[in-house]
Amino acid sequence: MKYLLLAFVLLSFMGCGVTPKQEIAIVPIPSKVEQKSGALTWKSGQSITIAYGDASLENVASHWQKMLSGDYNLDVTLKEGTQGDIVLSLASLSNTEGYELDVTPSSVTVKAGSPAGAFYALQTFKQIMPLKAEVAGKTKITVPAVAIADEPAFGYRGMHLDVARHFFNADSVKRYLDILALHKINTFHWHLTEDQGWRMESKKYPRLTEIGSYRPRTVIGRNSGEYDNVPVSGFYTQEEIKDIVKYAADRYITIIPEIDMPGHMLAALAAYPELGCRGKDYKVAETWGVFEEVLCAGNPKVYQFVYDILDEVIELFPSQYVHIGGDECPKEEWEKCPKCQAKIRELKLKGDGVHTAEQQLQSHFTKEVEKYLNDHGRKLIGWDEIMEGGLSETATVMSWRGASHAYEAAKLGNDAILTPNTHCYFDYYQTDDIANEPLAIGGFIPVKKVYEYEPIGKDVPADIRKHILGVQANMWAEYFKTFRHVEYVLLPRLAALSEVNWSDAPRDYAAFVKRLEHMMKIYDERGYNYARHVFDVNSQLERDNENHTLLMRLSALSEADIRYTTDGSEPTTTSAKYTSPVTIDRPMTFKAIAFYDGNKSRVTTQEFDFNLATAKPITLNTEPNKAYAANGANTLNDGLVGTKLFNTGRWIGFVGNDLSATIDLVKPTEIKMVGLNSLIITGDWIFRPVSISVFTSDDNENFSLAKEIRPEADTKHVNVIERYNVEFEPQTTRYVKVVVESLKQMPSWHAGPGKPAYIFVDEIGIY
Ligand code: ACM
Ligand code: ZN
Repeated sequence: MKYLLLAFVLLSFMGCGVTPKQEIAIVPIPSKVEQKSGALTWKSGQSITIAYGDASLENVASHWQKMLSGDYNLDVTLKEGTQGDIVLSLASLSNTEGYELDVTPSSVTVKAGSPAGAFYALQTFKQIMPLKAEVAGKTKITVPAVAIADEPAFGYRGMHLDVARHFFNADSVKRYLDILALHKINTFHWHLTEDQGWRMESKKYPRLTEIGSYRPRTVIGRNSGEYDNVPVSGFYTQEEIKDIVKYAADRYITIIPEIDMPGHMLAALAAYPELGCRGKDYKVAETWGVFEEVLCAGNPKVYQFVYDILDEVIELFPSQYVHIGGDECPKEEWEKCPKCQAKIRELKLKGDGVHTAEQQLQSHFTKEVEKYLNDHGRKLIGWDEIMEGGLSETATVMSWRGASHAYEAAKLGNDAILTPNTHCYFDYYQTDDIANEPLAIGGFIPVKKVYEYEPIGKDVPADIRKHILGVQANMWAEYFKTFRHVEYVLLPRLAALSEVNWSDAPRDYAAFVKRLEHMMKIYDERGYNYARHVFDVNSQLERDNENHTLLMRLSALSEADIRYTTDGSEPTTTSAKYTSPVTIDRPMTFKAIAFYDGNKSRVTTQEFDFNLATAKPITLNTEPNKAYAANGANTLNDGLVGTKLFNTGRWIGFVGNDLSATIDLVKPTEIKMVGLNSLIITGDWIFRPVSISVFTSDDNENFSLAKEIRPEADTKHVNVIERYNVEFEPQTTRYVKVVVESLKQMPSWHAGPGKPAYIFVDEIGIY
């Protein structure tokens, strides 16, 4: 490796006859980067000059100064004028958040569309500067000459944080804002209230924090029924909030506060029970989920409470937007509550086959709140549920249940923000290796998936496009007890999100990861806790259709030295070196590690159950569900066994029909058992198969039943992987057909009775 690298440097050195250019790696990728020859030498005792008349750049200039002195121990003075070592000025650019950064061997010039643009120029400049460790103790620092012209694709670049499920103190929130600033994020969505805690001090309703900010214990894991007996408490005083709002503004970040209503209000109800339909017996939630207890929408006192709280919110937060939540508000209590029902009659609301009267009541509630905000000069944002029962003409929709609600809202002429749970939920797992990962809520959103998110397809017309303000990722904190953990799930996915929001250039994941490596060194410099999955060895399986074996191709970052073992032992630098695809032709535990200069990746492990079915020709006789077709028939005999995550591509899903697959054993072969795995997560509508049948045939036309088994039906919620082995008298056959029957009507105890259930099946083994 080292020799190769040296040869490369020598070649480029000889090729152009000058010192090789220092590599520039910036995330998010700028619109235009023109690297020039030569470099600027930066030393102490230089100046930052703000153009005459551009006093609004003073704050940015002091950020430049702090970065140079804090990171590099360089003394720089601020002055006003036209010339200097760093000259900052405002200019009329096509995008107010844009900037031009020109580094020449003699100076740095920044022309920005606004102070925010100059701040983004600084974030870029930091990534061009050497790392602190590279220049420690040196008095001269060189910066490669470069001309950058840059502007964001989207004006709303958001990141959310739930401080209610777990509380993160004011210093942690500031650290979060620093991280956002580094990634040119300009909006912080602060989710301040929940069933499990109320975190904003209210002067008018002090019990909200006296009672609502405290819970004595929390359920362990995902509603296990056992509790930890560790109290969770905390809230932000109004003074702290003002300080944080200013801290954000100094970094050109707008804070959008969220008071989630009328659902997710248990903590407030515990403090003021009269605000609920039932009026008593509430307590701050100690478990996770969606709770039936919500604000009473038929009680005038509730509207007054909401307006009073919004008065305080408006006083504290200058943001034009206020987020009022609106998500996950069950209607069971409203259906029974005399006050809510009286309100429904008064408003003459009637179910219309699309929306129930109660959904329309929520729409009424939201519109009243919107009117109040508008009357006070503010705009309303809500989660996409605010569309149910009728969307107002002016509300902004945050589309989280997929992206479709955003386009639907945009079609209606409303603005929308994309936060789809398919790509932007950072509380989901970032790896499918969940056995070695701290607990997450579920799902699977690796860095690559975030990075490859295309917010607006090419076929979206301009009149819809203009209503899509931008993209935001959400950080729900049920499973994050510490701020270190928040950092770990945030980084580096935030880097991917920043590029989705900032750049409309075609995506190139491999190139992104190369640039990300440098960003990670800045994370190291700042002590941020980030996930390192991108360093891992990635594997790709191919079939060798001639030999009916599998070929495993490995890859990692370009400079990696990949070593592997097939006996279950942990690879070392002297294990077999990966140079070409590895043949998998027997059961084995395959492990690989990527070694980097002084560093190594985590272990990638693959268990192969190589049996008579593996890598043999296989066809599906029925259609899987489109969303869960994975790699088609090959998913079922690629030697890779699915884990408890259903959307990693290892499971194949069927709903409404059965799975039928035929495997060609290539020649008559004696067999006595067929096995397969089924993933069952009844909460996600995935049930046990009704039956599993094995048929055999010599001609692929006339099949006879070898054996059918019928697993016991699900009678309660489960989340398991089950192995089904279908055993029969030994027989010799060439073709094996496996039919897995799905449940066509879910039982009455389930939330979707009468609807068809999914089956998820993986890895058919023949023995
Ligand atoms: C949400 O994830 N409940 C908006
Ligand atoms: Zn009510």
